[in-house]
Amino acid sequence: MNKDKFTVLKIGGSVITDKSAEYSARMEDIRRLAKEIKEANIKNLVTVHGGGSFGHPSAQQYALRDGFKEESQKIGFAETHYAMTMLNGLFMDALIWRKLPAVSITPSSCILTKKGRIQCFEETPFKMALNMGFLPITYGDAVFDTDLGFTILSGDQLVSHIAIKFNAERIIMGVDVDGIFDADPKVEKNAKSHSHLTLKELKTLQNKLGKPSACDVTGGMFGKMTEIIPAVEKGIQVTIVNATKSNYIYEALKGEKVEGTLIEKE
Ligand code: IPE
Repeated sequence: MNKDKFTVLKIGGSVITDKSAEYSARMEDIRRLAKEIKEANIKNLVTVHGGGSFGHPSAQQYALRDGFKEESQKIGFAETHYAMTMLNGLFMDALIWRKLPAVSITPSSCILTKKGRIQCFEETPFKMALNMGFLPITYGDAVFDTDLGFTILSGDQLVSHIAIKFNAERIIMGVDVDGIFDADPKVEKNAKSHSHLTLKELKTLQNKLGKPSACDVTGGMFGKMTEIIPAVEKGIQVTIVNATKSNYIYEALKGEKVEGTLIEKE
């Protein structure tokens, strides 16, 4: 693996798609983010994007996360994976148009989970791409599972897995809110955001916030916190920023101070 430390960037599905309409991509945001990634021009970057209205509707309709139970789910698995390749294609198009050497790493072809957790990851092509200076792009996907038959792998689990396994220096999570709040900011008008959280504070807050809403098969902000905790425990710094706002991802990538939540071990 490359000796230089690297960054894992997650772009949430709610940033690049309109979650209120199936298969609705936010093309302007996709193009803007490609421009911000290009202009930040940082070395050793791995990007993971979410599913939004491409991944979640059919995953939910066919209850894919719970695993294979009946034949009729197979078309749902196929549809979900295909929809993710379409969304990924739109993102790849914007990056490659900017002359970035982005290469798509397809989770369903190189990852197996066991009861929903990453069990094996055929990582050589991924590592070679990173070492050679390519920009690996991966995403939340419908994947095969040794116990369940198949399941849904969230982009957040991938982010944490990649960051821990390959010793990333930092994680940047691009979401559609201004960081982590003490209540759901989309519901509670007076919710307050945290600019800094320690690991201990993050765990306390997670207990307070409780379980996710039903529309997100991979768990929303609660799921995000659960996934990043092991990375923070390993000393990886996590920044949560609003990627719908212009230049926030650019500034976060450049290491500039940006509005959002910075999470550190101590
Ligand atoms: C979900 O990935 C992938 C599928 C539903 C196939 P994520 O869980 O990372 O997606 P977002 O960011 O919440 O939309």
